[in-house]
Amino acid sequence: STNEKLEYIKSKIGTFPDFPKKGIVFRDIFTALRDPTACRYLKEVLVQEVKQRYPNAEIIVGLESRGFLFNLLIATELGIGCAPVRKKGKLPGDLISVEYVLEYGKDIFEMQANAIKPGQKVIIVDDLLATGGSLKAAIELVRKAGGDVIGGIVVMELKDLRGRDKIDCDVHTLIKY
Ligand code: PRP
Ligand code: ADE
Ligand code: MG
Repeated sequence: STNEKLEYIKSKIGTFPDFPKKGIVFRDIFTALRDPTACRYLKEVLVQEVKQRYPNAEIIVGLESRGFLFNLLIATELGIGCAPVRKKGKLPGDLISVEYVLEYGKDIFEMQANAIKPGQKVIIVDDLLATGGSLKAAIELVRKAGGDVIGGIVVMELKDLRGRDKIDCDVHTLIKY
């Protein structure tokens, strides 16, 4: 079942106290991705949830870098395209940018101005929702680019940080801490 798959994935996620700073409990998706069964279950559950929740999605946006593990994977299964939100200085062409803060720092996110067609229905994917700063910034970028954000999906959510409170669209989480 989906719950059994999620329990299995959760059992493979790495936990690193005091990384990258004292007081942060780092949840490491890459530890789980060493396990082929966890990879398969992650793909199956993500694709199933996105198909069910956002059947009218037209493009999926992934957040650099851990979101990139999932955006192409989901896009190919849904038969839609994908686009990146990247950290400053990596993308060519006309850009839209936004500064943001996250659990352990701050940075600038950028997106190509023409990555999204006006009114296109967009979903956003990332590995983890902590303070919500990254996802909120990505939503802002997609909207500035003219997209209609219909929802987001993350593998993990750190509930105590209440990142969800910053997000004004539907967000689905597979695993909560
Ligand atoms: C991590 C994580 C999320 C973000 C969540 O990314 O992958 O994208 O932080 O934090 P927030 O909800 O507090 O904004 P990070 O910027 O560390 O970079 P990476 O994905 O390139 O490893
Ligand atoms: N990004 C922000 N907070 C994080 C955490 N606690 N673990 C992994 N990635 C994160
Ligand atoms: Mg990230």
